[in-house]
Amino acid sequence: MTKQRRQILVTSALPYANGPIHIGHLVEYIQTDIWVRYQRMHGHEVHYVCADDTHGTPIMLRAEKEGITPEALIQRMLVEHLRDFQGFHIEFDNYYSTNSPENRVLAEYIYKELQGKDLIEKRTIEQLYDPVKAMFLPDRYVKGECPKCGARDQYGDVCESCSSTYTPADLKNPYSVISGATPAKKQSEHYFFKLSDKQCVEFLQNWTRSGALQTEAANKLDEWFKAGLSDWDISRDAPYFGFEIPDAPGKYFYVWLDAPIGYMASFQHLCNRRGLDFDTFWKGTNTELYHFIGKDILYFHALFWPAMLHYAGFSTPTSIYTHGFLTVNGEKMSKSRGTFINAASYLEHGLNPEYLRYYYAAKLNGTMEDVDLSFDDFIARANSDLVGKYINIASRCAGFISKRCGGVIDYHPSAEDEAQKGFFNARFNKAAEKIVEAYENRDFTRALREIMAIADLANIYINDRKPWDLAKQAEQEQVLQTVCSLALSMFKGLTMLLTPVLPTTARAVEAFLNIPALTWDNEFTVIEPNHKINEYKHLITRVDPKQISALVEASRENLKPTAPPPQSQQRHAQHQQQSEVKNMNEKSPSPLTPLDSGSGLRSTSSIPGVVPAGEGIISIDDFSKIDLRIARIANAEQVEGADKLLRLTLDVGPLGMRQVFAGIKSAYDPEQLKGRLTVMVANLAPRKMKFGLSEGMVLAASGEQPGLYLLAPDAGAEPGMRIK
Ligand code: MSP
Ligand code: ZN
Repeated sequence: MTKQRRQILVTSALPYANGPIHIGHLVEYIQTDIWVRYQRMHGHEVHYVCADDTHGTPIMLRAEKEGITPEALIQRMLVEHLRDFQGFHIEFDNYYSTNSPENRVLAEYIYKELQGKDLIEKRTIEQLYDPVKAMFLPDRYVKGECPKCGARDQYGDVCESCSSTYTPADLKNPYSVISGATPAKKQSEHYFFKLSDKQCVEFLQNWTRSGALQTEAANKLDEWFKAGLSDWDISRDAPYFGFEIPDAPGKYFYVWLDAPIGYMASFQHLCNRRGLDFDTFWKGTNTELYHFIGKDILYFHALFWPAMLHYAGFSTPTSIYTHGFLTVNGEKMSKSRGTFINAASYLEHGLNPEYLRYYYAAKLNGTMEDVDLSFDDFIARANSDLVGKYINIASRCAGFISKRCGGVIDYHPSAEDEAQKGFFNARFNKAAEKIVEAYENRDFTRALREIMAIADLANIYINDRKPWDLAKQAEQEQVLQTVCSLALSMFKGLTMLLTPVLPTTARAVEAFLNIPALTWDNEFTVIEPNHKINEYKHLITRVDPKQISALVEASRENLKPTAPPPQSQQRHAQHQQQSEVKNMNEKSPSPLTPLDSGSGLRSTSSIPGVVPAGEGIISIDDFSKIDLRIARIANAEQVEGADKLLRLTLDVGPLGMRQVFAGIKSAYDPEQLKGRLTVMVANLAPRKMKFGLSEGMVLAASGEQPGLYLLAPDAGAEPGMRIK
């Protein structure tokens, strides 16, 4: 049966340019890449595009913090992301950026089309404004006390303690996460996409039931419809890193408006490079368009995006394939547990990227269920399945062919071998049909289960025929050659089935067996007789559990203070170890990454990494890693509910304002600190504490006796000056 050659455009979600690729992201990119490779093996025309998602407040602020332009930041991240993807053999046809001329043109075009359909409306809204930073604050940049339960340090949209939702304006004692200042209310004109428009809702309801979504996703959408769709605020005020809205100076497209358009822009760029026709895929009816996404961004892809496409005159996606989230050892990835693992770090620890591809494939079943990475299971699957069952077929037989049979494959089958071959043949062909269906439906769990069942058969054959015994009997040379040739043919068949998951191993197997690139074939065929193969070299080695422990250790944030902290600080440190890491981004922006240690106060004798003289020596390079700066205490205040802490707002000159919690309440009255200059460590990773974000540490001296003494510079020092 020859199927028609399908024309398929595939995307993975565009990763934010404000952070590195981690193993959670890889669930998605590996899933998509496997599916794309599978389709390609069938000879279909497949284009796989992606890009970095570069716009928005977090990227703007991060660049500012690093003292570079957003353009420089996104350029650097693009290089890192591409390197990480290549490291895991994720093969995009085009990897681009949403900050591209193509994306600007397309975003403006779509916006104007929506405007032409009377789907854009201007409305004045009131928002919280940071008077120090002179910018409007996205919800997640405002924290305060929950209006319902009073829990402190809750974000402006939802309380993590009692789960009630509200607007930032409802928070009690709100403060800006950026500067620590109390936000003011300010009005501004915003642009809305009228999603609640009757025709729009109707269109979306029909689209949801068109079969483009998994059942679980369609159910989720029904819940949203029941709750009622609101209009979508698509503009943000300057300062913002993004595209300015045509004829609306100072107003920018919200990052989520131009992000999915980035799929089109990346494809447009590919079309320009390869002479493809853009409209065939975005306006045609015979082509297919698939978006692979995580469940957290379903709302954007299943509501806003199809509506935007439809009303701008483009085709809507054939399907949106949504996957669940990664958990590690049954829990959310966590920096304190060392399970928030970056792609680069995994590779740096010498772990084979194909272990992870294989593992994720074994866990992905095409649903929105979360995917758990259990380290024990990971090691077992790599060592028992991948190496023990699959690779072993080759490693047990290849040596005999090269050493005893002149490197030549050939068959002189006995009745027994013929029967075995026939049996294997039948099982393989039957399984191949199921495997095709499983791959197509992204049920890789099932595909691998079927494949491993065939690997079991091959191993049983080898165990029955015992080539190692045959090799001891000179008169059995032809039998040995037959058995090993058949086993290696089975290995070839298995490699074909595994190629989408293990592309690099497959290439190595092709080189070893001296055969052309494997294409999909549901029929089992043996390697042709009288065929010379190459010497076997190790294809995949076993995982050493020590590699995993080293990786986890290296990924663990160092949360242990060098000296035992006062009790209240110990509590915070424990709290910190349990707290989860979130990424500061536009869908769930929470304060950056947590920090290493302590409460924003360290006595000078226990600066992390510095040991007292006599116990150890550090190099000048070690010392210069600590960015010590002069800071002016712009504000100091009591922290309600904290025994030892004061909340300091520090002015660090060109580095901006920082909020630091310092355990100096016993020694200082806040009023007496205001305006003073002191010394801070400016490059500590920010840390989320019970009371808010601590973005550094001030230094104080202490001795055996009670008493704490903040450091102060000589007259003339200015905020932001470096201390060297
Ligand atoms: N920039 C947006 C997507 C815009 S698409 C037009 C975004 N970026 S992201 O970097 O946060 O995530 C990229 C993809 O990785 C998303 O599909 C997201 O669901 C997925 N994942 C990120 N962390 C993940 C896990 N921990 N587990 C599984 N998938 C995860 O969202
Ligand atoms: Zn609450």
